[in-house]
Amino acid sequence: MKTRRTVFDDNVVPLPRASGVDAKLVCSKLITHHDEQLVLCAKLEELADELPELSDTQFCLQLAKCIHPMICAAHEYEEKTLFPMLMSLDGVDENLKATTERLRYEHWEDESFADEVADALIRFVTDKASSNAETLAYMLRGFFEGLRRHIAFEREHIVPILCKQQAAG
Ligand SMILES: [Fe+2]
Repeated sequence: MKTRRTVFDDNVVPLPRASGVDAKLVCSKLITHHDEQLVLCAKLEELADELPELSDTQFCLQLAKCIHPMICAAHEYEEKTLFPMLMSLDGVDENLKATTERLRYEHWEDESFADEVADALIRFVTDKASSNAETLAYMLRGFFEGLRRHIAFEREHIVPILCKQQAAG
């Protein structure tokens, strides 16, 4: 029977191969979603830097409309495919379980924040008189900085696990 090491310790006895989703495919999709979200963050940062003026209100509205769907699509993939795969790995430990729970919670926070940011952007374009540019800039920065931290963590701690799986496969 084909065996491999656990993903967490290079010095342990090889364990039976776990069945599961293709780590290479999951890793590739995770990174694609990350890259899309990082582009979104860069665009939101451009907007925040422009405030209180906005040179392209249509761009702002289009961006507002794509924030929530993009974030949710990435989270859905992670929660329905990536996290179950991680939980099925040989040698899964309490740390990784706790990490995925925390990431899941951050998803929930980011989705909720994404809605607020999108609404605030739309309101700024359609009803500028009742909007506050400083508040909007603060919200935008809070959102994209949090999202970047989440992605950086997944790149540093989750992607290497998937790479090990590929190497072991
Ligand atoms: Fe995530």
